[in-house]
Amino acid sequence: MNIKVVEESSSYIKERIDKTPEIGIILGSGLGDLADKVSEKNIISYSDVPNLPSSTVKGHAGQFVFGKLNGINVVMMQGRFHYYEGNKAETLALPIYIMKSIGVKKLIVTNAAGGVNTEFKPGDLMIINDHINFSSINPLIGKNCDEMGPRFPDMSNAYDMNMIEKAKKIASSIGIDVVSGTYFMMSGPNYETPAEIKMVRVLGGDAVGMSTVPEVIAANHCGMKVIGISCITNMAAGILNKPLDHKEVIKTSNMVKDKFTKLVTAIVGDI
Ligand code: HPA
Repeated sequence: MNIKVVEESSSYIKERIDKTPEIGIILGSGLGDLADKVSEKNIISYSDVPNLPSSTVKGHAGQFVFGKLNGINVVMMQGRFHYYEGNKAETLALPIYIMKSIGVKKLIVTNAAGGVNTEFKPGDLMIINDHINFSSINPLIGKNCDEMGPRFPDMSNAYDMNMIEKAKKIASSIGIDVVSGTYFMMSGPNYETPAEIKMVRVLGGDAVGMSTVPEVIAANHCGMKVIGISCITNMAAGILNKPLDHKEVIKTSNMVKDKFTKLVTAIVGDI
C-alpha cells in the first residue's frame, strides 16, 4: 500500500468533517442500524471517496457515518468490503488506514458469524479473543507501508486484552450475557461444508465468518487497539440438520439488534 493512496482518500474526508473521531466502528451484516443512533450525523458514501470501491452486499449500506455516540466522536462503517466481492486484499486495509490517518485510535469490529462452538446458540454475542486467518489472503502482502507500521507486525494482542476485560465488565453491568472465543476466517462466499466446520473446531475456532480478519491485521499494523464482537447468527454447517442461508443471518442479527446496540453503545462510552 502506498501512503499517497491513503492520503488522497483521507484528505477527501478531512475536508468534509469538523470533528476527529476517536473510535471507529465497523458494522457487520444486519448490524448497520446502530448508525441510526448516531447524532450530529455526517454521511460520506464510499463511492465518493477516492480509491474506495462501492460496497455490494445486500444489507450493507456502503457509507461512513460520522457523529456522536454516547458522547464520543465516532465514525461508523455502515457496510464493509469483503474479499469474496472480488476486492483485492490490499483494498480491505484501506478503510482502516483512512481511519488511522484521520485520527481514530480504537477500532470496534463487528460481524455476523456461524457458531462452531456447540455451547453457543444463535443470537449470542461473542467477544472475540483472538482469530485464525484461514482465508488465504493478507492485506499486508506487497510493499510495506512504512508510514503505517512495520513489515512484520506483532499480533499477540490483536484483540486488546484490557479492552476485552473492560467490555466483559460493561456487558455484565448492563445485564447482557456474552460469550467469548476465537474467530476463524474463511474466504467465502459459500458457507462451509460440515467437514470444514469439524476442521475449524479441531483447529480452535469458535465462530466462523468471511470478514474482519484483514481489517484487524491492518489495524494492528498501524497501531490501533481493537475490540471485536461477533453476532452468532446461525449454527455453522452440519451442527443442526438444516441448510444455511443469508436470510437467516439477517433475521437473527435483526433479532439481537437491541442487545447489540446497547452493548456497543455502552462500550463506546467507557472504553
Ligand atoms: N459461515 C460463514 N460466515 C457466516 C456464517 C457461517 O455460518 N454465518 C454468518 N456469516
